[in-house]
Amino acid sequence: MRSGLTLGIETSCDETAAAVVQDGTKILSNIVLSQIDIHRKYGGVVPEIASRKHIEAMVPVINEALGGAGVALGDIEVIAVTSGPGLVGSLLVGIAAAKSLAFALEKPLVGVNHIEGHIYANFLDREDLSPPFVCLTVSGGHTDLLLIPELGRYEILGRTRDDAAGEAFDKIARVLGLPYPGGPQIEKLAQRGDKRAFDFPRGLSEAGNFDFSFSGLKTAALNRLNQAQQKGEEINLPDFAASFQWAIIDVLTTKLMAAAELYGVEQVVLSGGVAANTTFRAYVQEQANAAGMEVWYPPKHLCTDNAAMIASAGYFRYRAGVRSGFDLNALPNLRLGND
Ligand code: KG4
Ligand code: ZN
Repeated sequence: MRSGLTLGIETSCDETAAAVVQDGTKILSNIVLSQIDIHRKYGGVVPEIASRKHIEAMVPVINEALGGAGVALGDIEVIAVTSGPGLVGSLLVGIAAAKSLAFALEKPLVGVNHIEGHIYANFLDREDLSPPFVCLTVSGGHTDLLLIPELGRYEILGRTRDDAAGEAFDKIARVLGLPYPGGPQIEKLAQRGDKRAFDFPRGLSEAGNFDFSFSGLKTAALNRLNQAQQKGEEINLPDFAASFQWAIIDVLTTKLMAAAELYGVEQVVLSGGVAANTTFRAYVQEQANAAGMEVWYPPKHLCTDNAAMIASAGYFRYRAGVRSGFDLNALPNLRLGND
């Protein structure tokens, strides 16, 4: 066995992923098999198809991760797996694989909250980030604003009351006839557009409110498209995409910076798929520079779902003494701080 070597397994949604990470920070391999092409024709993830594809891919993906890292199963010190939140049938495939390996190899098993994994993507391949910080986790399923005073402690300052930010991107992209996932498509279209062309609402914008709401924005965007259609008016799609994207980025950034200021922290951290958005990263950077704060975000390929982030979070939980039993179950609605 090699000390500090973690095998991470992630199957919460439509990516079958396995990774080998040294000491929670150094990526030795990171294999992500995306099912996006399969789900794209349905306009979103179909849970039954996702779990079937995870079953087919799980063992080859784990073998590829071990081979890529140049390690054998016997070298692994700890096995970390996403236990929630996510699609129950998908989660169960990764959990069954992790439990089988842990049982057969007599290795410790650690269940990981997927959101915690996204946050730990910020610790990969660099070691200088340390709390306290305020973190925004923005993905297809979550929009959480967190105060992290120390490693492993999460104070939830706010979360979305309806759609997640990524979900809002995906829904509007779908209406515009753009392929799934919609975030990168809207971002691409927005590059040629004017963000001030359409005046879209910002939900829950009163000072001190750290919750989010994107349903008003979504309705306003849909109404605007319907109105144009009824009048036979042609909408400038790049302008529309740029204004829609800007409404989301503006509200996310404003609340993130206000929270950092209120809680007196000097570092702001981004995580989750939406944190891969270049305009969002640049705007947070600009605002943080103006406020004299430091910004952290993972490289783009580590913002979206992967198993290296699960290995990292799992290793730090393991170091803190956490162990999961063979009764580890999929928890589709698992929340941060409740595990
Ligand atoms: O974290 P993630 O891979 O999966 C979840 O845990 O949900 O996030 C996927 C979400 C999708 O909604 C996708 O549209 C969004 O992240 N996303 C983006 C970008 N890349 C991915 N949203 C905006 N801009 C992007 N560049
Ligand atoms: Zn995710």
